[in-house]
Amino acid sequence: MGKTGKLVYIREFLRDYRSIGTIAPSSRALIAKMLRPINFSSASLIVEFGAGEGCITKEILKKMRPDAVLISFERNENIFGVLSSIKDKRLIAIKDEAEKLPSYLISFNLPKPDYIVSGLPLASLPKDVGKKIIDTVKTSLPPQGRYIQYQYSLKSLRGFREEFSSVKLDFTLWNIPPAFVYTCRV
Ligand SMILES: C[S@@+](CC[C@H](N)C(=O)[O-])C[C@H]1O[C@@H](n2cnc3c(N)ncnc32)[C@H](O)[C@@H]1O
Repeated sequence: MGKTGKLVYIREFLRDYRSIGTIAPSSRALIAKMLRPINFSSASLIVEFGAGEGCITKEILKKMRPDAVLISFERNENIFGVLSSIKDKRLIAIKDEAEKLPSYLISFNLPKPDYIVSGLPLASLPKDVGKKIIDTVKTSLPPQGRYIQYQYSLKSLRGFREEFSSVKLDFTLWNIPPAFVYTCRV
């Protein structure tokens, strides 16, 4: 991320820490763990929630097939300004709430995605928003799809196990703060 992107991100965190979630973008180690469950040779549609300034977005684009599509949601207008400077014709960057994914899939005439990769700060978002996000994931993913979400604690583990048919965990110490990666099937 460039210096301007970093400043925008930190400024927005100070303004609204609950929806930004953390002061530092995901580390390379965390991004690698987030992308490990993805089979890039078969994925044709990947969705990203809470893309921020695009640190995970760029890594997905590096690995993605030339004919695949990435839809990245970021609702903060100023941070979206940084995200939308990524020029790649496979990327559809949307300045809107991730929970609106189903209506975008309909309007772009796209099928259910292979993966939903999320950097949303679920633990600090209002409870009703968190619930909407999980409902959106459950209605949008096909049975073979995967929802990959990082979190800074194991607080959601029990709830995720109730909502999803399978939940696998990974962990990295090399992030501020250290993070768990949840990989879920509907
Ligand atoms: C912790 S940051 C993650 C940024 C980046 N993906 C990373 O891993 O470093 C979370 C981002 O989610 C965005 N966000 C929060 N609620 C959202 C929502 N309902 N829909 C879309 N984006 C949202 C915030 O504006 C923020 O940029």
